[in-house]
Parts: sequence; structure tokens; C-alpha cells
Amino acid sequence: MITETHAMYDKLSGLLSDTVPDFELRMKAEIAAEINRLKIEKNAVILGHNYMEPALFYSIPDYVGDSLELSRKAAQSDKDIIVFCGVKFMAETAKILNPTKKVLVPSPKAGCSLAESITAADVRDLKARFPAVPVVTYINTYADVKAESDICCTSGNAVAVVNSLNTDRVIFIPDEYLAANVARETGKHIIYPTRDPRQKFQDDLEYQMVGWPGRCEVHEKFTVEDIVNVRKQFPDVVILAHPECSPEVVEASDFSGSTTAMINYVQKTRAPHYLMLTECSMGDNVAAANPDKEMLRLCSVRCPHMNEITLEDTLESLQKEQFEIVIDEEVRKKAYVAVERMLHIG
Ligand code: 13P
Ligand code: SF4
Repeated sequence: MITETHAMYDKLSGLLSDTVPDFELRMKAEIAAEINRLKIEKNAVILGHNYMEPALFYSIPDYVGDSLELSRKAAQSDKDIIVFCGVKFMAETAKILNPTKKVLVPSPKAGCSLAESITAADVRDLKARFPAVPVVTYINTYADVKAESDICCTSGNAVAVVNSLNTDRVIFIPDEYLAANVARETGKHIIYPTRDPRQKFQDDLEYQMVGWPGRCEVHEKFTVEDIVNVRKQFPDVVILAHPECSPEVVEASDFSGSTTAMINYVQKTRAPHYLMLTECSMGDNVAAANPDKEMLRLCSVRCPHMNEITLEDTLESLQKEQFEIVIDEEVRKKAYVAVERMLHIG
């Protein structure tokens, strides 16, 4: 075990000595080595979202990625236990795809402002108001909302999913900004009906996409003014924005894509400076993997939910096999159809 801890410390220190203090790296290396030992003993797999803090991101996950990649890995897993180092809706997606496996999320507090913005009853109301219009649901939702939907999407495949439907109209929930960004890319006109069911839409052409007023509490904070200010100081900066940012911010940026698309963009290009408008830990992870590139940060913006997932909690999660994701089987079966359809598209 001492050898494993030393090897882990050497790995983390090689990658993160500029970001994380040495005494912390030593402590984290010890916890990570114990997690990796337990992972084998319990025949578990660990999936880690790109937003995990650097020491966790580079030590314990068997797979890292964006929501789409991790859904695919979850679908392919042959282990008895899946530990999802991400937020609850991601762990739920793994459970939807693996009903017989034990799926754990290390903290019960890892929510998401988008997932909390809409309920299954809200979706039923929308379907009643816009009958026969297919419902595309962002993966950042809970299982009962997915169960009311025709198909899911992630930030990595939203445009492909909408185009795959070949319909004039679509309900796209719950992210107001992602919907607006997809509407622009697919050339659709979007409306946001209020929760008041008396609001009527007369003309069929008045709406091609029906959105919902959900927002990511992290990405909604970035403004065009931030971009203008950064460009003033660093005129040659390349700015990447997650599509949960407002359409104005996406428009003012140089590139927009899922978390993995942003990582790949930085890896494959060479610019004097990069700025990623997304959760700040990811900037640290990308900086560690690209020491020759200059990453600027707007680090006032962190996801409080993703930050709930720590190495300490992950160790306890594996030791006590907590916090297990449980989904009603009827709900799961319906949600499975929507997630599976998405995985067939791309
Ligand atoms: P990705 O699917 O791009 O990783 O995004 C997940 C998320 O929660 C972004 O805030
Ligand atoms: Fe949800 Fe936003 Fe956090 Fe992603 S960054 S998990 S969308 S609150």
C-alpha cells in the first residue's frame, strides 16, 4: 500500500504541483490509493465528470468525460458497483441504464439547478398544451422528468437529436439558454410559455421550439461584458463557452461545445491564451494536461453541486456503499427508452 501511495503522490505531484499545495497532495494520494484498492476489492468502476477537482480527476476515475461519454461508459459497464463522481442526475442516468447494479453517488447534496427547475407534472402540462409535439429533455434532469420525454440529449448531441426528429416543432426542456442556442443552430423560432395554462398560441408557425425557464446557476453568470473586458486585456485570447451560457455569450465567444469538446479544442489548437467559460475546476484540469498552454480563469464561478464530491466522500461512499440511487421501476423503464434513443443517435 505504501508503494501505491508513493506512486500516486508522484503522479499527482507531476501534474498538479503548480495548483495544489504539496501537503494536500500527500494526503490526497493516500486517500486515492485506498479508494483504488477498495475499487478492485469490491469490483467497482468509478466514473468522473470533467468538473471534478484536479486531485480527484487525475487519481481515481476509470473513465472521465462529459455527460454523453459517461452515459456510454455506464451503459457498457460490467462491474457490480458504479460510483459516479458527478451530480445526482448523472448517477441516475447510470442507474437507468444499469438497473441490476448498485449505483452510488458520494454526496446526497450534489444536485443541479437545471434538474431542480422542472418536475414531471410540468412536463405533463406542457404536453397537454402542445399535443403531439415531441419532448427533447436535457440529460440534466431527474428520472421522472426523463420518463415523460420522448428522447434525451446532452450538450454534446443536442443539435443532432433535434435534427434526428425531423419534425416542424419540438419541446426542448429545461435549459432556456441551451434551447436558445440549439434553436439558433437548427434555424427554429423559440418561445417560452409561462406556467399560466391560459396563455394560448394561435398560429402554428408562432412556435417551432418550446422552451422552459431553467438555467444553470453557474453558466448564467458569464456575461458579454466579461468577454469584452478579457479581450481588452488579452486581444489574442481564444474564448470557449459551454452551451449552457446565454446565446449572447456563445455568440461573442470563439467556440462552443460540451465540456469534452472544449478540452479537445484546447488540445488540438495552439493559441497564446485560452479562456473557458465553464466550471472553474475544469480549467485546472486542462491546465495540468497542457502545461505549455496559457489558461486564463474566471474563478469566481464554481458549481457548488460538483464541489460536493470529494475524495474523502468517495472513500466513505465505497466503504459504506452509500448513497445508493433508487428509481421506481416503472419510471426507470420509461426513462430508459428516452436515454436509449439518445445513445443511438450520437
Ligand atoms: P457536459 O455534458 O458538457 O459535460 O455538461 C454537464 C454539465 O452539467 C455542464 O454544466
Ligand atoms: Fe448543474 Fe450547472 Fe452544476 Fe452543471 S454546472 S451540474 S448544469 S448547476
